[in-house]
Amino acid sequence: MAIQNPNIAVIGATGAVGKVFLDLVEERNFPFNSIRLCASERSEGKQITLKGKPITVELVTEKLLSEVDMVFVSASTKVSKEICPKAASMGCIVIDDSSAFRLEPSVPLVVPEVNKIDLKNHEGIIAIPNCSTTPLVMVLNALRTIAPISRVTVDTYQSVSGTGTAAVTELKEQTANIVNNKSPEVSVYPHQIGFNLLPHIEDFLSNGYTKEEMKMSNETRKILHDDEINISATCVRVPVFTSHSESAHIEFDGPIDIETARKVLGSAEGIKVLDNPGKNIYPMPLVSTGQDEVFVGRLREDISKQNSIALWMVSDNLRKGAALNAIQIAEELIKMD
Ligand SMILES: NC(=O)c1ccc[n+]([C@@H]2O[C@H](COP(=O)([O-])OP(=O)(O)OC[C@H]3O[C@@H](n4cnc5c(N)ncnc54)[C@H](OP(=O)(O)O)[C@@H]3O)[C@@H](O)[C@H]2O)c1
Repeated sequence: MAIQNPNIAVIGATGAVGKVFLDLVEERNFPFNSIRLCASERSEGKQITLKGKPITVELVTEKLLSEVDMVFVSASTKVSKEICPKAASMGCIVIDDSSAFRLEPSVPLVVPEVNKIDLKNHEGIIAIPNCSTTPLVMVLNALRTIAPISRVTVDTYQSVSGTGTAAVTELKEQTANIVNNKSPEVSVYPHQIGFNLLPHIEDFLSNGYTKEEMKMSNETRKILHDDEINISATCVRVPVFTSHSESAHIEFDGPIDIETARKVLGSAEGIKVLDNPGKNIYPMPLVSTGQDEVFVGRLREDISKQNSIALWMVSDNLRKGAALNAIQIAEELIKMD
């Protein structure tokens, strides 16, 4: 397999994540011998310009998969379930953005800054985490060098692009309708998202949590290789176009002081501390959108519990939460040969 200069396929190239992925291919000068762009019948035949050259969007076929070495899949869980095992059985390395394989024991779930070592043991498919898990594990991984973490309570404020292109269009249309005194149409979410908040991301489960909330708990444990860490999440959809924000309360099994936490986070790969509340400096979606880093601020001791801190983090869900993490995995694989 030509891993150093691969023939690649991007499945879901016309979607919210796929578009950012193609921006990153150019921005990072990702090495490839050839690139195939795939989507559904809706987009077949469309042209996408990459590095100044038009590329025609194709359907995914067995023939196409047999002609590539590396496949990036950002379509849907259903599409991933169908395509990833097929591509892997044909010898491709598959980097999958969906939740289809994240908890499979044979599939590494990777954030390179945290567990790139897990890339050594893959069987063709490598998964990236949910877009709200990624910033959380990066922050927890840095902080656990100070003292072991026992419990995390996290509340998210997730942008509509996390649901994909259709939700971005819906928020734009609802906002325009509402400010023009027209009634907003509701189709992507169960309720209006414009000028509203929904404490509901993905289906509710029998324990009262949503699938998204349980992903944050289960995926974090897998990535950190720590089954002892207790995580309780509440995931909320907010009327923001891009970037997910999270408020976390983190309890440690030992003493922790804020200055050490600030120092450790400030020197962690992929994290930028923005924390000067006196000057109104703290992370916000408008700051992180289009940026690669996870931004952390509002660092403080939690006055309600000893050995605990509270903080706020924001990151671009389409970049570090999806496309950037996928391309960084591919870059690591190329480095590891
Ligand atoms: N958005 C995020 O922040 C984020 C973060 C992490 C992971 N993810 C995951 O990434 C995936 C894509 O999300 P998204 O937000 O980019 O969704 P999206 O904007 O709805 O895009 C979906 C893409 O999949 C394509 N597609 C649909 N059916 C297909 C098929 N049968 N064969 C090939 N391509 C097909 C669509 O093509 P058409 O344009 O032709 O319809 C489109 O390019 C999902 O699995 C999602 O869970 C998303």
